[in-house]
Amino acid sequence: MNSTHAPTTFLLYCRPGFERDCAEEAQRHAPRSEIVEATENSGFVRLRTAGKPDYNALIFARQVIRELGHVETLPERDRLTPILAALPVAPEKFSALWLETPDTNEGKELSSFTRRFAPLLEEALKSAGRLAESASLPRLHLFFPNRQRVIVGSTEPSKSAAWQMGILRQKMPPEAPSRSTLKLSEAFEVLLGADQTRLLRTGMTAVDLGAAPGGWSWQLIRRGIKVIAIDNGPLKGAVLGHPLVEHLRVDGFRYRPRRPVDWLVCDMIERPQRVATLMADWIGSGTAQHAIFNLKLPMKKRVETVYTALADLRKQLDEAGVRYRLVARQLYHDREEITVYLGRAGGGRKK
Ligand SMILES: C[S@@+](CC[C@H](N)C(=O)[O-])C[C@H]1O[C@@H](n2cnc3c(N)ncnc32)[C@H](O)[C@@H]1O
Repeated sequence: MNSTHAPTTFLLYCRPGFERDCAEEAQRHAPRSEIVEATENSGFVRLRTAGKPDYNALIFARQVIRELGHVETLPERDRLTPILAALPVAPEKFSALWLETPDTNEGKELSSFTRRFAPLLEEALKSAGRLAESASLPRLHLFFPNRQRVIVGSTEPSKSAAWQMGILRQKMPPEAPSRSTLKLSEAFEVLLGADQTRLLRTGMTAVDLGAAPGGWSWQLIRRGIKVIAIDNGPLKGAVLGHPLVEHLRVDGFRYRPRRPVDWLVCDMIERPQRVATLMADWIGSGTAQHAIFNLKLPMKKRVETVYTALADLRKQLDEAGVRYRLVARQLYHDREEITVYLGRAGGGRKK
């Protein structure tokens, strides 16, 4: 959390049902902040703080928007006039206009309205010279919690999620053996970003702990990566008998490959602390260079559990003198869990 002067309200999107976690985490980073709104199952949280919540440091926030204005009672007809009146004078120009709704059933019902409304607003902004084609300019967000209400805000493209509503939309590949394949492809996109081409290359090797039925392994083999799939359960579909896959029915907590691998992925359902320790062990010892893993959340004290597990993991790697990069996020496809990337950085060893 960087410090600024005047307190500002920030709008954070999150998975519906995780408002309390999102607020608790944001307040961990900004201890003197105040929660303005965090209604259960609303899919968003509003936080007033003199600091600036850092999207990249937060796990439960899908997007972090600086609020610039709002209208609480939009009329049924001519919503355009009060919205245009609520637009801030500064910043003067924006790179994009995003009309957004919460990720809830009510939000879905509003999306046909926002789709119809977006071109009208865009036209009005263009005529006023306030939209420009420069990727570094801030984006303008209009968030409609319901039909009557709009919150206006902005994000800086380099310090925020690059997807509307903070959600990367993906199509289910028909050949993949399970829907959880989308979780790993989302993790690659969201957690690795532009590093994907460097970090995921044909000819690399991987271990997939808790692989069955094979959705994660499928993401690896489609990139030409050789996979050792660890699970007592059966692999299915395109992954079963694939020449790049070796299936071993052994315990994922005990298994270690004969030679180090490039990648470790892990989707075993276990206590977060136990999985985090295992990941730190593989990365710390150089058994794998990179890991993506899920931490399944408990029913209570979710934020505390995750932060404790990640703090212990960091401690384990620090004590081993290993340099690493860690990014954690609750992805769109994550339900009661979060996804973490952990990779050895800059040669791996601290001097
Ligand atoms: C959520 S599923 C994995 C789904 C998989 N990622 C996919 O995309 O198809 C969890 C898997 O972990 C396996 N599992 C749980 N504990 C394990 C252990 N100790 N060793 C190996 N596999 C384990 C289960 O058998 C189960 O198939």
